[in-house]
Amino acid sequence: MTRLAIYPGSFDPPTLGHIDIIGRAANVFDELIVAVGHNAEKHPFLDPVDRVAALRECIKDIKNVKVEQFTGLLVDFARRHDCRMLVRGMRVVSDFEYEFRVASANRVMAPEIETVFLTTRDEYSFLASSVVREIATLGGDYSPFVPAPVFERIKAKLAK
Ligand code: PNS
Repeated sequence: MTRLAIYPGSFDPPTLGHIDIIGRAANVFDELIVAVGHNAEKHPFLDPVDRVAALRECIKDIKNVKVEQFTGLLVDFARRHDCRMLVRGMRVVSDFEYEFRVASANRVMAPEIETVFLTTRDEYSFLASSVVREIATLGGDYSPFVPAPVFERIKAKLAK
């Protein structure tokens, strides 16, 4: 049986922390879909098309990973792919409450789907897309936090 997992997020923008989780999840699942969604609580920064394109460039050498955009409920997207495993990265304690809430809501809607968490590496435990957005929009150097394809797309967006 092929173990398929979905790694959902808004990835706005994708960070080195996200790329680390993708690589580690790809090692423990047969197939991984990185699902770029919309978080209703967040105002979009990069266009979803750019997020998907940047992520595809980042994972092009990992054979068992693909990137897709989704709209609507995550559990509906997972069911369309016959997928029963969601992967999320867990940073510090402050992530826990939100993650617990979303995982619980998803489980009520889709009891057959489990959420599993990978803890982030120490060096990325502080890193969040919101940190990158803030540094970038205020003119700081965000290059230590994002992979090159993402850096280029943020640069292009800020130049507009
Ligand atoms: O990276 P994020 O912003 O924490 O990702 C959140 C995301 C996009 C995975 C989440 O908001 C999501 O699944 N959105 C789709 C709608 C949905 O299914 N919500 C879950 C019920 S609370």
